[in-house]
Amino acid sequence: MNRVLAHTGARYPIVQAPMGWIARSQLATAVSRAGGLGIIETSSGETANCQREITQMVASGLPFGVNLPIRFLKDDAMLRFVCEAGIRFVTTSAGSPAKFIAPLKAAGIVVYHAVPTLETALKCVDAGVDGLVVEGAEGGGFKNPEEVSTLVLLQAIRERVDVPLIAAGGIVDGRGMAAAFALGAEGIQMGTRFVSSVESPVHAHYKQAIVAADATGTWVLNKKATPCIRALKTEYTQPMHESGLLAANAFAGIQQVYFGGDMNAAPALAGQSAGLIHDVKSVQDIIEETVAQFFDITQRLAALAATRQFG
Ligand SMILES: Cc1cc2nc3c(=O)[nH]c(=O)nc-3n(C[C@H](O)[C@H](O)[C@H](O)COP(=O)(O)O)c2cc1C
Repeated sequence: MNRVLAHTGARYPIVQAPMGWIARSQLATAVSRAGGLGIIETSSGETANCQREITQMVASGLPFGVNLPIRFLKDDAMLRFVCEAGIRFVTTSAGSPAKFIAPLKAAGIVVYHAVPTLETALKCVDAGVDGLVVEGAEGGGFKNPEEVSTLVLLQAIRERVDVPLIAAGGIVDGRGMAAAFALGAEGIQMGTRFVSSVESPVHAHYKQAIVAADATGTWVLNKKATPCIRALKTEYTQPMHESGLLAANAFAGIQQVYFGGDMNAAPALAGQSAGLIHDVKSVQDIIEETVAQFFDITQRLAALAATRQFG
């Protein structure tokens, strides 16, 4: 059996990415109802609100997961809450998961860590993670400045580890999913695609900016400091692209971008995958079309393999 399905309890190995403030029960419920795996974020730092969202998801009975971004957690309140909440699947990110693995596993929780390099992947497997989210440089949000693409990173990690891999960064449909599976992934995670879905809570301006962007519509900003991020090319991010530095308090207006629709209030995080997104679709359509396209492509390739000819 596909190990990501065994670990998550979802119908399809299609995961909705953790995204501060955005990845809450409205979006996660839509994804899990459609057969994917919704994830609740905790990177916003809004402990009480995130705990309420997690409690709602537990009560829904739907499969879902929680993301714990280690460096951004103020204390261990969220870790303790998650261990006691009856959750089955957690992704950790942004820091070493070593200290988190024992308490999470003791609570019966499966742990995948999000990694941007082979080196981190090897350390995490040594530390005992059950799987990895392999995050290539194409993806939106917080990035490693070394910028290894999903195509190369997946192969480099698959060559060296046996744990299940969820591919993230640059995937919006069944073509990307089939490519990821060809490289050894057993699941995919999509961020930018789900931000621009009907059920995403962000302002219509954000969704339209993603639809309007082409594959060169983002920049990696702040490569020489932290956080290094991938965001849309906007008037706001232009000077940061030119100087190579993020403005102090660059994220102060992030909620104005997400929910107020002011695309110049903060960096609008998005991946190169924005160039593959041409309309705002419902979560159910995104997931059903991804699954159908995945099987169309793999069937065509299987037929090709049966002939032992390239066509
Ligand atoms: C709007 C947005 C916000 C994000 N916020 C977070 C976050 O708070 N924590 C995190 O670990 N990753 C965050 N990410 C990264 C995603 O979890 C995911 O790795 C990435 O979106 C995958 O690439 P894709 O955008 O091409 O699908 C964010 C991505 C986007 C697009």
